[in-house]
Amino acid sequence: MTRLRNVQVTARANIALVKYWGKADAGRNIPDVGSLSLTLSGLETRTTVSAAEPGSGWHFELDGRPMTDKEADRMRSLFRRLDVPSAMDIHFASENHFPTAAGLASSASGGAASVVALDSALDLQLSGERLAEEALRVSGSAPRSLFPGFVRLDPAGDHVQLRSLDMPENWDLAVLVAQTATGPKKVSSRQAMASSKASPYYPAWVDSHAQDLDDAEAAIAAADFDRLVAAMERSTLKMHALPITSQPPVWYWNDVTLAVIAAIEEGRDRGMSGGYTMDAGPHVKLFCQLGDAKAWGALLAAVPGVTGVIQASTGDGPEVEFI
Ligand code: PMV
Repeated sequence: MTRLRNVQVTARANIALVKYWGKADAGRNIPDVGSLSLTLSGLETRTTVSAAEPGSGWHFELDGRPMTDKEADRMRSLFRRLDVPSAMDIHFASENHFPTAAGLASSASGGAASVVALDSALDLQLSGERLAEEALRVSGSAPRSLFPGFVRLDPAGDHVQLRSLDMPENWDLAVLVAQTATGPKKVSSRQAMASSKASPYYPAWVDSHAQDLDDAEAAIAAADFDRLVAAMERSTLKMHALPITSQPPVWYWNDVTLAVIAAIEEGRDRGMSGGYTMDAGPHVKLFCQLGDAKAWGALLAAVPGVTGVIQASTGDGPEVEFI
């Protein structure tokens, strides 16, 4: 009989430098293109799987409240795919330890933490490939949070391949998140990805994508920070061109997003080194070397409309603790 061990797993968010956008297989959640990300410290999801009262069944909690039906359904599907016995009484609780209103996707850290927590609690001994596949089903960016530092994800037919990239020596990076709005985004990435397929630029996005991935990977291998952030900005702007040119158009940016980009460009004109990226939301993430973080932080905070700046750095893969 399957035995349950109480476990707590901590997984970290990640930010893509070379973006994924668009799905080849919506059912399996296989992306049309690869991606390259950095796992971040300080932005964590903690997921606890523990034995519940006899007869209580599966119980799902998020940030101290019962999950909504939609949230719980996603988890129930994961439980079923992993053959968790329906008679097993389980309390499943996830908590996001993100700075308040960070506006950062917790789906990546949440997806990775959920899969690793079930694997450990039920001693399933899932292969790395299976862990990635299950995390992918929860969220397209979640498999990347299974590894520390720089991670490359490539679609490979009906599955994805993940590779951890070596961090160049003495490369201490910082990521500054300039918050440019409050409240949830209006259009989910899932929805906007589906409509983006009709953009006339979609085929060009797919065709030119591998070049950005290879360029970013080569920049990391050569410890060439400026080349890396140039590839990141190219990928970011190409990605955002897709929802903007789909029908109906989706703009994830607001006026503060653009003001932050202009301020970053002015900083660079004065000799500062750093680059920006945005995801399916208006916040701007600036990548820089740790030694430059203070100056960049002051510059971002001074942009009118920026409501806060959060600093993160390179983070580890998931940690498992039996409790
Ligand atoms: O994790 P998802 O499926 O919601 O997609 C996230 C997509 C981007 O954050 C915009 C890009 C990426 O590669 O993370």
